[in-house]
Amino acid sequence: MARQLKKFRLVFLMSLILVLAACSSANTEGNESSGGEGGGSSSDKLVIGFSQVGAESEWRTANTKSVKSAITDAGHELKFSDAQQKQENQIKAIRSFIAQKVDAIVFSPVVETGFETVLKEAKDAGIPVFLVDRAVDIEDDSLWVTFLGSDFVEEGRKAANWLVEDMEGVEGDINIVELQGTVGSAPAIDRKEGFEEVMAEHPNFRIIKSQSGDFTRAKGKEVMEAFLKSDGENIDVLYSHNDDMAIGAIQAIEEYGLKPGEDIKIIGVDAVKGAFEAMAAGKMNVTVECNPLFGPQLVELIEAHFAGETLDKRISVEEGIYTMDQAEELLPTRKY
Ligand code: AHR
Repeated sequence: MARQLKKFRLVFLMSLILVLAACSSANTEGNESSGGEGGGSSSDKLVIGFSQVGAESEWRTANTKSVKSAITDAGHELKFSDAQQKQENQIKAIRSFIAQKVDAIVFSPVVETGFETVLKEAKDAGIPVFLVDRAVDIEDDSLWVTFLGSDFVEEGRKAANWLVEDMEGVEGDINIVELQGTVGSAPAIDRKEGFEEVMAEHPNFRIIKSQSGDFTRAKGKEVMEAFLKSDGENIDVLYSHNDDMAIGAIQAIEEYGLKPGEDIKIIGVDAVKGAFEAMAAGKMNVTVECNPLFGPQLVELIEAHFAGETLDKRISVEEGIYTMDQAEELLPTRKY
């Protein structure tokens, strides 16, 4: 009986040791997967939901490709959603990412406002949001980890400064027509603001017409046709918030019987290949760079966050400006 009791005690003790060892290993694993601020470790494979604006421009196509391939090349799983330039589609996509319990959400908002509720839902679910390309106009910046993208106000200033310098010595009023991007979007609001800020110091530069072309070639052409119909030969300059609309407008100007690049100066933004082709052909004067190829930088930031690093709230992409006389030489080197 005493021998049996001894054997029972031994078995009980061994079982207890095994249970305690299992508990301690489970705890360690829990800490690793919730490691850092973001709840994972840098070597973890992450599930990343990417809600993209749409496919409205050459720029957007290059941006989608850059972000998608950077995520998958780094070994993470991608869930992609194209909003087709509609805010309601983006809200649905983000809710679906939350329901699928993704590890992180990458989000380029179509417009600046109206996303507060859904971003709060993501925060409550513990899912970090990375804003890319376009910012939101929301006070509570705890709703996203960081914003990675261009300084659109500065792009507007660059376009205006180029124009002022190019037109130096020209007497009299200079009439500008403006093709704005998507109404309510960060690049449309900011590129307008930066351009007007410089123009305010030069009262002979007058914006005589300004309308949205929604960042597309087709809309850019259509709106330029209307500008030509009302103001025709009076137009000296076109300032277009992106190259695609400028390219559409160039077509309209040619069909109207004027020479784009000569009779009407053409300023675009993005620096896509199509703009370099137009500049090399003498039909466009300048394009301000807006770099869409930040996919690899974005993935580094996401991984840094999950490794516990604190990121700056705004990370800007370095950009330049390119003129007609550089186009032929640079065209073969352009990556988007
Ligand atoms: O948000 C970036 C802008 O969106 C690009 O300048 C434009 O081409 C795109 O559609």
